[in-house]
Amino acid sequence: MSEKQRILSGMRPTGPLHLGHYFGVIANWLKLQEEYDCYFFVADWHALTSEYADPTRIKGFVPGLVKDWVAAGLDPEKCSIFQQSQIKEHAELNLILSMYTPLGWLERCPTYKDQKEQLAQKDLNTHGFLGYPVLMSVDILMYKPLAVPVGKDQLPHLELTREIARRFNHLNNTDLFPEPADMLTEEPVLPGLDGRKMSKSYGNSIMLSEPLDEIMPKVRGMKTDENRLRKSDPGDPDVCNLFPYHRLMTDPERLPEIIKGCKDASWGCVDCKKLLMESLERFLTPLHERRAACTDERVREILEAGNAKARSYAVKTMEEVRKVINFDF
Ligand code: TRP
Repeated sequence: MSEKQRILSGMRPTGPLHLGHYFGVIANWLKLQEEYDCYFFVADWHALTSEYADPTRIKGFVPGLVKDWVAAGLDPEKCSIFQQSQIKEHAELNLILSMYTPLGWLERCPTYKDQKEQLAQKDLNTHGFLGYPVLMSVDILMYKPLAVPVGKDQLPHLELTREIARRFNHLNNTDLFPEPADMLTEEPVLPGLDGRKMSKSYGNSIMLSEPLDEIMPKVRGMKTDENRLRKSDPGDPDVCNLFPYHRLMTDPERLPEIIKGCKDASWGCVDCKKLLMESLERFLTPLHERRAACTDERVREILEAGNAKARSYAVKTMEEVRKVINFDF
């Protein structure tokens, strides 16, 4: 038996991952898989809460997400990768914990209000969408993890998870569900190509699986320091949108040279972009190689093994839950 503490996190399969996901989320997961007993799962039922009217694409996004994870360096020998909808116990626990969740807790949830406004073109006035945080609590509580690495936007959901755990425990006079701690992932450090947050919907992303020859023109079109109109004008790396990319992907020993060249105008934005392209190539090539090696068959194997492990844990938790609420018929 592994002595490592358990950590769990999930992502919705809503499309290919980009560099913002890599540096904002996955880089942290790569460290965690070395230190903890990690469970990472594809939250496909969650995707359904907003995509129910046209769910066909989710099917392709599920293996795509697993491939992106493996490409990025998640190692199925070190962590367990599973698919939410294949562990039917999540549906049963969702039903049960729904009974314990006051409507007000869900209506108050800031992500509920925000998302409903942002996705106004979809009809999100549904039971499932309102209940999303219950399903997320289920994903977590089922595996009794020590902590859940998430971004700031997910903290209200985690707080709700603890409230539901507390209420269930209290009403049933049990300590079945330990309260999971949050493990806040650092703020995203990589802006999009246009300086806004990197996001698929803004069209300002570089995908992890994107061929290099498609990335090249994007890099050429990147905004740099807007005050630097001519090559002879001195620039400022602190306001240039290219520099955060160098900081993450270029050999750190070259950074002083880039800063100096920019500030004293001895090196132009075109040179800077060429160097960035080399850095991107060096960074992405191993990802592309791992992705190519991760066939559909391999994805099936990975999920089968991960699902089996998750399921055996979930089955145990559900036996405990049924016993505690006197539904162990
Ligand atoms: N709600 C998360 C998101 O949209 C995804 C998610 C679902 C999740 N269940 C989870 C994250 C459990 C952590 C733990 O990003």
